[in-house]
Amino acid sequence: MTFLLYGATGYTGELIARRAVASGLRPVLGGRTAGPLAQLAAELGLEHRVASVDDASAFDRAIGDAPLVLNCAGPFSRTASGVATACIRRRVHYLDITGEIAVFESLAARDGEAARAGVMLLPGVGFDVVPSDCLASHVAQRLPSATHLAIAIQASSRMSRGTALTSLEGFGAGGGSGAVRRDGRIERVPPAWKTRVIDLGAGPTTVTTMPWGDVATAFHSTRIRDIEVYMTIPAQLRRVMQYGRPLLPLLASAPVRRWLESRVRRGAPGPTVRQRERGWSRFWAEARDDTGRSAKARLLTPEGYELTVRTALECVNRVMRGEWRAGYQTPSMAYGPDLVLAIEGIRREDL
Ligand SMILES: NC(=O)c1ccc[n+]([C@@H]2O[C@H](COP(=O)([O-])OP(=O)(O)OC[C@H]3O[C@@H](n4cnc5c(N)ncnc54)[C@H](OP(=O)(O)O)[C@@H]3O)[C@@H](O)[C@H]2O)c1
Repeated sequence: MTFLLYGATGYTGELIARRAVASGLRPVLGGRTAGPLAQLAAELGLEHRVASVDDASAFDRAIGDAPLVLNCAGPFSRTASGVATACIRRRVHYLDITGEIAVFESLAARDGEAARAGVMLLPGVGFDVVPSDCLASHVAQRLPSATHLAIAIQASSRMSRGTALTSLEGFGAGGGSGAVRRDGRIERVPPAWKTRVIDLGAGPTTVTTMPWGDVATAFHSTRIRDIEVYMTIPAQLRRVMQYGRPLLPLLASAPVRRWLESRVRRGAPGPTVRQRERGWSRFWAEARDDTGRSAKARLLTPEGYELTVRTALECVNRVMRGEWRAGYQTPSMAYGPDLVLAIEGIRREDL
């Protein structure tokens, strides 16, 4: 029972590697930096293979006879295309834990290519987007006439270093703007464009539009053409995003981003064990149609990185059991909206 876990030495990759071993899996650990990879592999008693995404033959050797690659090396804007290309070439399935809109869209554009190779491209098997994607599909199924979808996310714990660096990169690439889907197309909107007050399960709270992965994926899963994704963020940050709009080109500029990145790199790699154990996340989704009817539901789940470990390994296990569909898939397209109910610690409530 093996697979290639690429990016295994990152904060999230290592959590997944350790849990995989604890659950009886024997992943081959992959990455571009030999030293830490060899050290982790020795500690866990696993094989490791060093390969850069840009080196096709080394990557093919790294894949070996593994039936799937779980890519945890982000920012995925730098790795997803190369790893997915190798997977299609080797006819093995591609999974990752991205939450990047552009990455989802670029993999969706390769649906036909993957289908012809008999390969599943399943990005987003982590915190973003498994729960929100399943919830979106669940409310869409309850209201087949839906024309609008809103998703809201609330997380108790902070980002890992890698997530913060990826967010900064996305912030720069998008010129600091937000994103929503309007009439089926992804459109840029000002940062912190809209707010709403929503009860995600702990009382009414203000949520703010954010350019999360579901802007891309929920459309493929539900075919609903108007989609907004909201998050709870500190009020102070929301004000900075709203009133600092004229400064965005400066904030998104390369020198300022480099300075911010250097500050992030000096921080902790991610939430502590205690934060992961005690943390939680909440998700809410509403499908609405033109007549004003709506279907709403919400989820209470474990902390984001703990959840990512569980959802990613659930998807890996399903693929290894032979449960996969060729072509580009979202989690709920591949496994249905009830995929989340198979994850320990998740509760769904229809409203
Ligand atoms: N969607 C979700 O819910 C979710 C959840 C968790 C994490 N993530 C995403 O997953 C990614 C990893 O997060 P993390 O906290 O584990 O970050 P991290 O601790 O910084 O680890 C990043 C890993 O990726 C590798 N890597 C980075 N760029 C690479 C490249 N160009 N080629 C090969 N390997 C590369 C790094 O290898 P080196 O040591 O060689 O640099 C390292 O192993 C981030 O993009 C984060 O946003 C998403």
